[in-house]
Amino acid sequence: MSFVKDSANRKPIVDTVFVVVEQAKKAKEKYGVENVRDAVIGSLYTEEGKLCAFDTVFSTLKSLDNTRLAKYAVSFTGNPDFQQDAIDWVLDGNSKLYKEVIATPGGTGAVGMTIENCLEPGQTLIIPEIAWGSYSLMAQMNSLNTKAYSLFEGDHFNMASFKDTVRSVMETQDRIVAIINDPCQNPTGYTMSREEWDEVVAFLNECSKTHSIVLINDIAYIDFAYNGSDAKKYFSCFDAISDNVAVVVAFSISKSLTSYGLRCGAAILLGKTPEVVDELKVVFEKSARATWSNVNNGAMETFSTIMREKKDDYLEEKQKYVDLLNERSALFIKQADEAGLAYYPYKEGFFVTLSMDNETRDKLHTALIEKQIYTVKVNKGIRIAICSMPLKAIDGLAAQIKSVKDSLNA
Ligand SMILES: Cc1ncc(COP(=O)(O)O)c(C=O)c1O
Repeated sequence: MSFVKDSANRKPIVDTVFVVVEQAKKAKEKYGVENVRDAVIGSLYTEEGKLCAFDTVFSTLKSLDNTRLAKYAVSFTGNPDFQQDAIDWVLDGNSKLYKEVIATPGGTGAVGMTIENCLEPGQTLIIPEIAWGSYSLMAQMNSLNTKAYSLFEGDHFNMASFKDTVRSVMETQDRIVAIINDPCQNPTGYTMSREEWDEVVAFLNECSKTHSIVLINDIAYIDFAYNGSDAKKYFSCFDAISDNVAVVVAFSISKSLTSYGLRCGAAILLGKTPEVVDELKVVFEKSARATWSNVNNGAMETFSTIMREKKDDYLEEKQKYVDLLNERSALFIKQADEAGLAYYPYKEGFFVTLSMDNETRDKLHTALIEKQIYTVKVNKGIRIAICSMPLKAIDGLAAQIKSVKDSLNA
């Protein structure tokens, strides 16, 4: 007997993070917090070990009238104020393209809805080889295959692999949907240069002569880039896209406002002509209505109120944590360099990922747990969540990992 459709994959989700979170929690109870290095949790934490929840954000939310919190959104694509505020905040004046916005439950909604509506079952989604796990799951749920491009060649973006991957998928289907998670890539912390972005755009334009192209630019961590609003300048490179290319910028308010549970974000649709963004919007609106109907009104109103009335306070508060993240990553990277511990090219963001093959990764992950060091396994690496680690927990960690790693080969 079976209750779900035959084609559904029945394998339960293996949540690699959740399992280690539990192990780390138990270890802290047993050995004491100060004797455990917990590099697992992927949200921003304070130096005091608490989940960071911006005061500007939650005082604004709580100041909203009950009816504003209770209401449905104005439309299935979100509130008009919110849509304008999302464009202004995210693009920061760096795009001359036609734009439309669909409010979504988090960046997840924006990425998921694009994948669902832009590829036919059986087609292939292009993703990074080291990536946020949900991309593959979304592909699976929509009966899609994935093909991964290698992320790095030495210390820079692997342009050759990206191009080869796109070209090979072009041989089997009439359209391309490719994800680039940038800046502050999860989990490596890489940010592409302007030159790299320009080359991606020129290449996609070339491909668009024969295929329609949708580029999903997942910007989940952009507001924690170290160079502030300069991190948004690269959006202007999309001005050069051809008529047959659409860009969906997936914005996550979870990260930008430290409001993970409020479930708000946006798909910002960019195109050279109004037809490009209109077609996507019509379909995405129906998809939204059929899936989540409309997005949390209180979350949208909070975002808009902050953008219109409290932006300076918000920026000041956020900057403290951007600086803290910068300090944490600088400490880890400096000590990793001193210890000779290899990591993927890190520029900024919540995570640093140690580079190694998957066999070493499995052994090292287990060996680290024996030393009360808790990390997350990712493809070809081990993720260190500096976002949730106080400086004192980062201090000395790299050398400790290096010595455990060396002992594996001893
Ligand atoms: C790379 C990446 N994209 C998108 C998201 C979506 O987050 P949310 O749906 O909470 O906005 C996440 C969350 O962890 C992420 O890491």
